Amino acid sequence: MNTETIVIRSESDLHQLKRAGDILRSSGLVAFPTETVYGLGGNALDKAASKKIYAAKGRPSDNPLIVHIATPEEAEKYCVTNELYYELAASFMPGPLTVILPKKYVDGIPVVPDETTGGLDSVAIRCPADPVAHKLIVSAGVPIAAPSANTSGSPSPTSAEHVIHDLMGKIDMIIDGGESVFGLESTVVRISENTIYLLRPGAVTAEQLSVFADELIIADEHLKEGERPLSPGMKYKHYAPAKPLYLVSGDEDQILNFLLEKQDTEKCAIICYDEDAQVLSPDNLFLLGKKNDLLSHAHRLFDFLRKTDITDASVIYARLPDKEGIGLALYNRLIRASGHNIINLK
Ligand code: TXA
Ligand code: MG
Repeated sequence: MNTETIVIRSESDLHQLKRAGDILRSSGLVAFPTETVYGLGGNALDKAASKKIYAAKGRPSDNPLIVHIATPEEAEKYCVTNELYYELAASFMPGPLTVILPKKYVDGIPVVPDETTGGLDSVAIRCPADPVAHKLIVSAGVPIAAPSANTSGSPSPTSAEHVIHDLMGKIDMIIDGGESVFGLESTVVRISENTIYLLRPGAVTAEQLSVFADELIIADEHLKEGERPLSPGMKYKHYAPAKPLYLVSGDEDQILNFLLEKQDTEKCAIICYDEDAQVLSPDNLFLLGKKNDLLSHAHRLFDFLRKTDITDASVIYARLPDKEGIGLALYNRLIRASGHNIINLK
């Protein structure tokens, strides 16, 4: 398949989205930028488009897709909303929050087909803040089902280059809108009247969400075997670089001594903080930003996981993040990218 690529950097480039909207309305697939990661979009109401999304990604068909809408109120057409949804929407939409709500049925038929929701009785709703994503949804005139635009299992794409690497020749169009501002996927929550279940941590943090409900339950990333996950996506290995990844935790001195020794004895790549460059040798060092600059870490992490693949290193070490604030999202992605490989030096 011939994949068309368009570049959008300013207002004057936006007219190109008309064609992208046409493609989406005729069951085609368009990869597009959002403030979190790039999405692989298809018409959420079109079974054929959803099937194509699973095929292009190589994604298991029981892993449901997020439905992207232009305004929070549009959720009414597809879901059964509640007060808590609108409270969250007032604070975090448009933005990097996905809310799972019960499906809406008309004459016994779900408005959003089972092909889009992996056969589930619920719909995940997200209203992206990225202006290109917003204008694409408006131009399409239909809700857009979009998982991250990567091959299933690999790190989510945060630039058009990543999407081109994974999906060129498999989809109709790639919209290059520059680097994703945040760099990790949206926060995913399921809500009932007074409880918020945090299924995937992201830019909207557990601390921010907790004030909206009596109870906030954080899904355990260390799912026990055989336990049914709240979100199907949680059971799959994710974000994995091609080489083994180990997460290092301990006191500062312990971590640095460990990494120095590894640099002496192994061909390794290290994902760490700017400050570490004063101690470690510069070979295959990937600097996430200053230690406290978690937004910079989020912005660079997936790009680094991909870049370590093209180094001559045979193993990757990364620092295990703290779980506070956005740290929980970084922790969650790294834990899963490493397959829970943690080296605790304490
Ligand atoms: O930031 C994001 O959310 C990006 C951009 C493109 O919007 N999208 C994204 O989609 O990360 P995806 O498919 O890679 O991750 C969606 C996650 C999966 O873990 C999926 O299982 C879960 O959301 N999910 C979707 N619909 C669900 C539902 N009805 N019930 C439970 N979990 C659901
Ligand atoms: Mg994904």
